[in-house]
Amino acid sequence: MFPIRSRKEIAPKTVLLHVEAPLVARKVEPGQFVIVRVNEEGERIPLSISGWDRRAGTIRLVVQGVGRTSYEILDLQEGQGFQDVVGPLGKPTEIKFYGTCVLIGGGYGGGAIIPMAERLKELGNTVIGILGARSSELLIMAEELSQACHQLHISTNDGSRGVKGMVTDVLSELLKSQAVNYVVGVGPIPMMAAIAEMTRPFRIRTHVSLNALMMDGIGMCGACRVTVGGKSYFACVDGPEFDGHQVDFDEIAQRLTIYREEEKIAADLYLQRKETACRSLSSVTKSA
Ligand SMILES: Cc1cc2nc3c(=O)[nH]c(=O)nc-3n(C[C@H](O)[C@H](O)[C@H](O)COP(=O)(O)OP(=O)(O)OC[C@H]3O[C@@H](n4cnc5c(N)ncnc54)[C@H](O)[C@@H]3O)c2cc1C
Ligand code: FES
Repeated sequence: MFPIRSRKEIAPKTVLLHVEAPLVARKVEPGQFVIVRVNEEGERIPLSISGWDRRAGTIRLVVQGVGRTSYEILDLQEGQGFQDVVGPLGKPTEIKFYGTCVLIGGGYGGGAIIPMAERLKELGNTVIGILGARSSELLIMAEELSQACHQLHISTNDGSRGVKGMVTDVLSELLKSQAVNYVVGVGPIPMMAAIAEMTRPFRIRTHVSLNALMMDGIGMCGACRVTVGGKSYFACVDGPEFDGHQVDFDEIAQRLTIYREEEKIAADLYLQRKETACRSLSSVTKSA
């Protein structure tokens, strides 16, 4: 088992976990991910590694509940753990001296960009972070990201914190006011597609981390096939980062919906079973 050493709820349906996985912690580089399985019957899901402590042998994961397996992970407590943690997987982010780098995170992407920001800063780049969410309560890892970057800009759709609008509104202002040499986006597909469209006219090197459906994570099953520059790649071994100007975002968005019906049934069943278990536990407690 891979035990959870600490667990904190950092936003609604979102937890920050420190998990003991010494072999992963020893080798991981920014941009890489793990594939985890909660238990023997469990589904394997990919999660970005948002930090690590090589000496303690732990990795940091940010998990957002969107379906059956991520809900199961939200329910894990300190001391419990994962059946499997496989990794580090994927190619690390291409990190070198670029000049001014803008790293943009939406959703769990706010955690995923932290190791990239830290390493780019160490190499002498000027690192600007942009973190976005629908509202302030959904913003995650703002403090950690602000320490990793030279500047951090925040946007919320409802204006409850930072600029009212989207991360692309902040990016648009930045592109007007200064030269930018490298942009990385990690988050929902529409966000990454919009970022790539904004930087295209400026010909700024733009990488996006593709959250394709994954199963084995080692290039064998084909689940994570993506099209980049007209060619097929497997996001798990050839990515997850690709040139955003070459990615076929419509195809990925469409492939993510393939199992929507089955995913909904699985999530509903899990939540129903959990509710029934909670109800019977509370009736046992009352009668005792
Ligand atoms: C390289 C990589 C890194 C990732 N890092 C993180 C992370 O750090 N934290 C985190 O919370 N999530 C991350 N994800 C997304 C996460 O893997 C999915 O949310 C998860 O697999 C959903 O499984 P589920 O059983 O909970 O939901 P499902 O029932 O499988 O799906 C529920 C909903 O989520 C969508 N979905 C399913 N799989 C994915 C996917 N791979 N990417 C995006 N949407 C998906 C489905 O279309 C559906 O609408 C990452 C994905 C990839 C490929
Ligand atoms: S997840 Fe199977 S080939 Fe990438």
